[in-house]
Amino acid sequence: MSALVWTEALQVNQPQMDRTHQEFVELLADVRRVLQEDDGDAGHAAFERLLAHTVEHFGHEDRWMQATGFSPDNCHSRQHAVVLQTMRDVLHLAREGQPDPLGIVVRELAQWFPMHAQTMDAGLASHMAEMGFDPATGEVSGALPDTFLTHCGSAGCR
Ligand SMILES: [Fe+2]
Ligand SMILES: [Fe+2]
Repeated sequence: MSALVWTEALQVNQPQMDRTHQEFVELLADVRRVLQEDDGDAGHAAFERLLAHTVEHFGHEDRWMQATGFSPDNCHSRQHAVVLQTMRDVLHLAREGQPDPLGIVVRELAQWFPMHAQTMDAGLASHMAEMGFDPATGEVSGALPDTFLTHCGSAGCR
């Protein structure tokens, strides 16, 4: 399978999200490259960098959802939680010496990310624009929804 690379098709037209997503793609490529040479300590360290970045990445999006009317257990935040737990679990398995758990999850993440960016993240970016939400200040200039949003608003989530 070919590696995931950053392309315009992954853009959601929200500068901070796009920057973070580009970093995610680059860190994922780093893990893939390092694992080809060393699936021991160096591979684990590269995956830890990706995991730390992903904690921040998802944390920002989850906070932006909270600030713009989403319920805490909306489907987008739940998917973040599942992905992070999976990443922590496979790192644990890799440290126990299981064969290639990081290689498997890196391939899975490369398949998962474009779908996530183009549906849930794109939906969040357009919701933030609609609400007039400024992630730099946390301020909303538009009217928030009357009730909590439990779905991400993407085409596959109705
Ligand atoms: Fe994202
Ligand atoms: Fe997301």
